[in-house]
Amino acid sequence: MKIVKTVKEVREQVAQWRRQGLRVGFVPTMGYLHEGHASLIDRSVSENDRTVVSDFVNPMQFGPTEDLQTYPRDLAHDAALVEAHGGDLLFNPEPDEMYHEGFSSYVDMSVLTEELCGLSRPVHFRGVCTVVTKLFNIVQPDNAYFGKKDAQQLAIIRHMVDDLNIPVQIVGCPIIREADGLAKSSRNTYLSPAERTAALVLSQAVKIGSDMVRAGTVEAAAVIGAMKEHIEAEPLAKIDYVKMVDVATMQQITVLDRPALCAMAVYIGKTRLIDNFFTQDILPEGN
Ligand code: PAJ
Repeated sequence: MKIVKTVKEVREQVAQWRRQGLRVGFVPTMGYLHEGHASLIDRSVSENDRTVVSDFVNPMQFGPTEDLQTYPRDLAHDAALVEAHGGDLLFNPEPDEMYHEGFSSYVDMSVLTEELCGLSRPVHFRGVCTVVTKLFNIVQPDNAYFGKKDAQQLAIIRHMVDDLNIPVQIVGCPIIREADGLAKSSRNTYLSPAERTAALVLSQAVKIGSDMVRAGTVEAAAVIGAMKEHIEAEPLAKIDYVKMVDVATMQQITVLDRPALCAMAVYIGKTRLIDNFFTQDILPEGN
């Protein structure tokens, strides 16, 4: 497994693999890798001849009051994890390798970015779309792997490659959870022991909501109401949003008459956590 810091090195390595006719998979990350990221690497390794992982805390997707400075980093740990899971190349650029002086081109999406996390994080998805487009242009992978944990991000990336004719296949992968249900996240390291316990309200709310949908509830308000009630009973939790949206547009729906995403963002103390479920993943086919 090789670690490289420059765009040129990535291009040279990938070009060499291409000359050999090898298929390339790509897993973009912001590092501090855990089993959630590892599951994407495993999937890529199983479906491609070579796997590139990027490890870049992208300043452009953090708002001015967000946690860019404190975002956890550990390159040695990340390199060991990528190696152990069979990744071939780790791209770890410095910010000025990605954003040279005078950088002024952005990928801006409307509609899908305007609901859910887009409301509370206004510049976030512009930063995500811009960096992912750059990474796709640098790596030029056949397949790219994204977690359903960041469900809106996954929908946006799918839409972006379609809108912009970017020749890459986007693969969505299941949420990996701790044994007690908490979705794995690099931000879980911010939680105190009391907050770590309180954070279980997110996955418990997912269970409450998905059980109701599975049992046949079709009123979005009923599902969301029950989930909110559970979260609000936890004093350390403060809801940013709990919403049911159309998977294609990310716009809110009132009746579950089409494939939907039920997504939430909840502050546990100062830490903002997200979790969700897709109705398509829990209902038998045809519903
Ligand atoms: P990051 O938060 O590091 O996540 C990288 C990838 O890992 C994303 O596709 C995310 O959905 C996935 N992931 C995180 N936790 C997961 C879990 N518990 N189960 C399954 N997958 C999980 O998302 C980003 O970085 C950035 O926005 C990025 C796309 C790299 C652009 O900067």
